[in-house]
Amino acid sequence: MAVNMNNDVKPEPALSAASAPVKKRVFSGIQPTGNLHLGNYLGAIRNWTQTQAQYDNIFCIVDLHAITLPIDPKELHRSTRQLAAIYLAAGLDLRYCKLFIQSHVREHAEASWIMECFTPLGWLNRMTQFKSKAGENIESVPTGLLCYPVLMACDILLHQAHYVPVGDDQRQHIEFTRDLAQRFNSHFGQQVFIVPQDQIREVGARIMSLDDPTKKMSKSDPNPNSRINLLDDAKTITQKIERATTDSERLVTFDSNRPGIYNLLSIYQLLTEQSPQQIEDEFAGKGYGDFKAALTEQLVATLAPIQARYHELMNDLPALENILKQGADAVRPTAAATLQRIKDVVGLG
Ligand code: TYM
Repeated sequence: MAVNMNNDVKPEPALSAASAPVKKRVFSGIQPTGNLHLGNYLGAIRNWTQTQAQYDNIFCIVDLHAITLPIDPKELHRSTRQLAAIYLAAGLDLRYCKLFIQSHVREHAEASWIMECFTPLGWLNRMTQFKSKAGENIESVPTGLLCYPVLMACDILLHQAHYVPVGDDQRQHIEFTRDLAQRFNSHFGQQVFIVPQDQIREVGARIMSLDDPTKKMSKSDPNPNSRINLLDDAKTITQKIERATTDSERLVTFDSNRPGIYNLLSIYQLLTEQSPQQIEDEFAGKGYGDFKAALTEQLVATLAPIQARYHELMNDLPALENILKQGADAVRPTAAATLQRIKDVVGLG
């Protein structure tokens, strides 16, 4: 696994929309809220690693987003480092990427307040993730949960990102970010922000739950058998795949009307990088048992080296802290320059 541990992240000059970098900038992030699963890997992190050499990449551990729902402070601190270790173990290379913890660059929180003052409440009320996370408790959920998309927009806009590679569930948040950037730019008649685009792949953008393939695979699903966690061992993976919901047809073919087997086949397609036709040929005349065994083998072969590297990185926390500090120092000048620009046009200071 190519992980560059030389800490060679250099501070960059302050950047504005008028002086974009030569390589297009990518920004994305994940919440450090516990077990990362295969959906996070195939929908996000793996895609980041595959295209990292083409772009100027910034990947964030969004701890300020994680406190929008109750979380134990010690657990949050630990999960933040674990997520950084996963980023590196999965193959993010410091030659191409800067990694940082969101709360270490305080411009995010400051920009978020200002941008909230330019966000119509109706836009936030329409966010489907807010509605599903708030559930029935709309009166008692933290206000931060409602304002979550503004902070996410600031993550992206402060760094003048062009592209935001995410899974399908973030589509509405990126659309919101674009709307907010356009609204602010046109309100002040200046291009304060680059208007970013999502990068959502066709296959893997929505990995589904193993026990109910009509729902997406999720960290918050109470049933642990609904997901493969990135740190699951071979035995656990074997059991979860054996139990995964399929159907009674016993045909190993890509048919979206049979969502269980379709989801498992999509995962296999991503892991083996074969076409659907090649996969159907491979399993012609074979049953679900053979297919599930092959899928398990692929999953273990993909995750075992990531897990080994993850444990090495977690055994040297000072080195990890250093990488994160250097990342924050490297990205801060652009965030500070954008924040200053926001304040100038608004008339603050
Ligand atoms: P989060 O932490 O919920 O998820 C991280 C990434 O994993 C993707 N993902 C999935 N992809 C495919 N199938 C699934 N079942 C699946 N589940 C999750 C998500 O789409 C995401 O790409 N709001 C963001 C974090 C964030 C952010 C940002 C992202 C904060 N600021 C700025 C991009 C840019 C979130 O909660 O992701």
